[in-house]
Amino acid sequence: MSKPEKIVAIKGMNDILPQDAPLWELFENTTETILKSYGYQKIVTPIVEETRLFSRAIGAVTDIVEKEMYSFEDSMNGDQLTLRPEGTASVVRAVLEHNLVYDGPRRLWYKGPMFRHERPQRGRYRQFFQFGAEAVGFSGPDIDAELIMMCRRLWDDLGIQNVRLELNSIGNAEERARHRTDLIAYLEKHEDILDAEAKRRLHSNPLRILDTKNPAMQEMVNGAPRLLDYLGEESLAHFNGVKNILDRAAVQYTVNPRLVRGLDYYNRTVFEWVTDELGSQGTICAGGRYDPLIETFGGKATPAVGFAMGMERIIELMKAMGEPAQPNQCDVYMVHQGEEARMQAFILAERIRDAGLDVVLHCATPAGAGSFKSQMKKADGSGAAFAVIIGEDEIANNVAAIKSMRGAAGEQQQTSVPFEEVVDHLVDQIISGGGHDHDHDHDHGHVHYHP
Ligand code: HAM
Repeated sequence: MSKPEKIVAIKGMNDILPQDAPLWELFENTTETILKSYGYQKIVTPIVEETRLFSRAIGAVTDIVEKEMYSFEDSMNGDQLTLRPEGTASVVRAVLEHNLVYDGPRRLWYKGPMFRHERPQRGRYRQFFQFGAEAVGFSGPDIDAELIMMCRRLWDDLGIQNVRLELNSIGNAEERARHRTDLIAYLEKHEDILDAEAKRRLHSNPLRILDTKNPAMQEMVNGAPRLLDYLGEESLAHFNGVKNILDRAAVQYTVNPRLVRGLDYYNRTVFEWVTDELGSQGTICAGGRYDPLIETFGGKATPAVGFAMGMERIIELMKAMGEPAQPNQCDVYMVHQGEEARMQAFILAERIRDAGLDVVLHCATPAGAGSFKSQMKKADGSGAAFAVIIGEDEIANNVAAIKSMRGAAGEQQQTSVPFEEVVDHLVDQIISGGGHDHDHDHDHGHVHYHP
């Protein structure tokens, strides 16, 4: 028989492996704790939505809608569907569908996989995870600033340094229309310098041309009319309001007049958190206001603002900053030898778990049950604070040997404890301290992360 062909993951779609899971958990737990502390509530929306939800929300002439969406026809009923490329459109749909803002504004958050058919490279994937926050029904600059400060708190709590905040205001539709007329006139004057993409966008989405990465166009783009100079009184007041709060809260930022974002729903405040540590895909978090969006879906005019973070990028940044978290699989590893010992170990493991500790029981592999020595090696690698050892001698004496796994090999102590006292003994040692620096907080797993 020929060897079956291997099947591998789809290009640009990653497995998150167990060795990275503690970092992801740390990031997710920290973020969720912070979001909660600012009053944000969780919302979960489907991964698949109607295609027109995204094309209408994000804009027909955007990279995402033009060339990056995983869209398909449901062969069962002909529905036009898309794997969500982002979360804001779905949140807005859900807010309208369930009338979530009928009794006032809402602070919402979500996390989950997003899909974009981009060219995969470091920090850019076809399936990636976002953490997002959307504040719906708030109009003032205070909520914009609050979202930004929430991010800063997260970077601080995760020990992330070397990120900077870029801020801009892209005004409202009329202000952009006036700017657009002047911008198109300016770009037409320099048509010989425009690349094919820019020529195509000249009349459909000229603002995006300012965002070009093409070095040949930089100088021309630098001299283009700046949207910031077209802002009216109200937009300026809002922008100044955001900046004033950030100044008072000592949040550093740079105003980047060329920051325009790649999705069409934005108005007024836009921002990005950027790092130089990740190569070309350095934006770890991005967002802004999208006051007109809800009305375009038939809802009553409702201002809104939000952001989304790229989780893979932040995990990579955390890795770049320090040693990865050491995963502790368990508190206790059960080692046993012989049939009766195995039975005892099973029963005892359940009782230890009843007491709230995490227990890994040694189980047989195709190589067999494993010698005492090989089992102790596994116990060592598990990160357990204690090994509970049951062999023939222990069975004969109705005791278990409890070995401390922390400290240098010579200092590890072993004591014999009667079966009925094992649970209390372990609880006493692990939870009540017993001289061990054990962080027994189950919400945070057993992660000791040192940035
Ligand atoms: P976005 O700028 O398209 O905005 O994406 C937000 C973040 O998701 C990016 O800054 C980046 O960290 C991450 N990201 C985007 N594409 C990829 C990719 N292909 N691979 C890895 N990470 C990626 C939005 O999605 C808006 N919904 C944000 C928002 C929420 N605005 C208002 N509310």
